[in-house]
Amino acid sequence: MIFNMANVCKNYGNTEVLSNFSTSVEMEEVVCIIGPSGCGKSTILNLISGLAEPSAGEVANYSTAISYVFQEDRLLPWRNVYENIHIVNQNCSTKACLSLIKDVGLQGFEGYYPSELSGGMRQRCSLARAFNFEADLLLMDEPFKSLDYNLRIEMISLLLKLWDSTRKAIVFVTHEIDEALLLGDRILLLSSRPTKIVKEFKITAPKKCRKLADLQMVQIRSEIIKSFQAGI
Ligand SMILES: Nc1ncnc2c1ncn2[C@@H]1O[C@H](COP(=O)(O)OP(=O)(O)OP(=O)(O)O)[C@@H](O)[C@H]1O
Ligand SMILES: [Mg+2]
Repeated sequence: MIFNMANVCKNYGNTEVLSNFSTSVEMEEVVCIIGPSGCGKSTILNLISGLAEPSAGEVANYSTAISYVFQEDRLLPWRNVYENIHIVNQNCSTKACLSLIKDVGLQGFEGYYPSELSGGMRQRCSLARAFNFEADLLLMDEPFKSLDYNLRIEMISLLLKLWDSTRKAIVFVTHEIDEALLLGDRILLLSSRPTKIVKEFKITAPKKCRKLADLQMVQIRSEIIKSFQAGI
């Protein structure tokens, strides 16, 4: 197990965000979180990472280090692509860094600054940086939100490739069902506040060869949509 949340309550003033919320994630597992806007998804990541403290209950973190990809890319504007990726891991050789840059399709842009990159390129850079940081737990908060559908699907396969070679545990927050279907070993479907896990789906098909048209995917997508329509 890489972390465990047991009966966690989180309030901000009078806003009850989480009430007796419990979940855990195993080593190497990819867990996707889907839920209505404002239900507390970012709050859950903040609690796991220690950026926020629970009002009650327990958050146990067994990871050696955490890499956090925030809702916005947070690249350093005064550093180029190479430097933004290299800076998080001083043990990373030039060769390894350049190879990672190639993996995310930014070869030739090593010297570009974030302001000179498109939104998709910045996301690739931030993905490479997250994987370059020596962490065994990766928290990702809607990292592909600003990308078009094709680019998002491309980024998911890139993420899967990087996951396959590093086997970091990942908690991935998204509003996009397809992203969760392609990526998750489990999908947690959250209610509105105070947030509970309404349903949990296990996806058994190996991540590498999933197709959105596969029967299991179609069934899970339809259950998630039904839950949304029922006003979770
Ligand atoms: N630091 C904070 N101070 C006060 N209230 C907060 C703080 N962080 C979050 N909240 C409140 O907690 C609730 C959950 O916020 P959170 O950002 O976790 O939602 P979310 O599910 O990530 O939403 P979205 O999908 O829009 O990103 C919201 O009502 C928000 O106003
Ligand atoms: Mg959020």
